[in-house]
Amino acid sequence: MRIGILGSGLMGGKLGTLFARAGHEVTFSYARSEQKLQRLAREAGGNARAGTPAAAASRADALLLAVHWSRVDDVLKQAGDVSGKVIVSCSLPMNANDTALVIGHTSSGAEALARKRRKAHVVAAFGTVPSEVLFGVYAARNKANRPDLVYCGDDAIAKKLAARLIREAGFEPVDAGPLRMVRYTEPFALLVAQLAYERKGGPEVAYRFQRYRKTNTRV
Ligand SMILES: NC(=O)c1ccc[n+]([C@@H]2O[C@H](COP(=O)([O-])OP(=O)(O)OC[C@H]3O[C@@H](n4cnc5c(N)ncnc54)[C@H](OP(=O)(O)O)[C@@H]3O)[C@@H](O)[C@H]2O)c1
Repeated sequence: MRIGILGSGLMGGKLGTLFARAGHEVTFSYARSEQKLQRLAREAGGNARAGTPAAAASRADALLLAVHWSRVDDVLKQAGDVSGKVIVSCSLPMNANDTALVIGHTSSGAEALARKRRKAHVVAAFGTVPSEVLFGVYAARNKANRPDLVYCGDDAIAKKLAARLIREAGFEPVDAGPLRMVRYTEPFALLVAQLAYERKGGPEVAYRFQRYRKTNTRV
């Protein structure tokens, strides 16, 4: 696939690198220096390049939106027409100093994004993991016990594409339902951040959902 990275920081830089290493054609865009985008493209390998948000969007089958909430309007304006595109968003609707969500609980950042670009297909994914785990999870992708990663969206084809990217990044995709369910995964992302950065566990936190059998036998 051709994947455009809108926001090449902690999340976009790492996920773009993983997508390139998984064989996709990746365009890194939107950082404060062109040199940084060039470096990311170089380090990611043969299928990556640096470009503008417009260039990243025009060629893309999918876009990864990975900017601070305060930059969403700017990067979308620079990206131009995204009609028909899949936008996988990990951006959380945080305030300026990242202490609280600015949208909830009757709506969510992902729903607000979908309203801003009604002709795009928004899928929320990757927002519930700290960027520090991404390379480690990718490195362990062929082992059992992959960490779960929830994703939400309203378009079946877009969700299938997002689930493929999640699996290629080394996670087990867990379909959490329609886009409105992001009202619950965005606060969950703050719980993960609390566990990762404010408690002693460290950012390597990843989670698994466990099903319990409806039988009397011990499992
Ligand atoms: N970091 C995490 O662990 C994590 C986890 C889950 C969700 N999220 C969410 O993911 C989103 C991205 O987070 P992040 O940590 O990746 O942020 P980040 O490292 O700050 O990356 C944001 C990107 O936007 C670029 N940018 C900012 N202002 C710009 C401007 N005026 N012009 C051009 N480019 C500009 C930055 O450029 P530079 O590269 O030059 O700084 C950077 O490439 C946020 O919504 C966050 O809430 C983050």
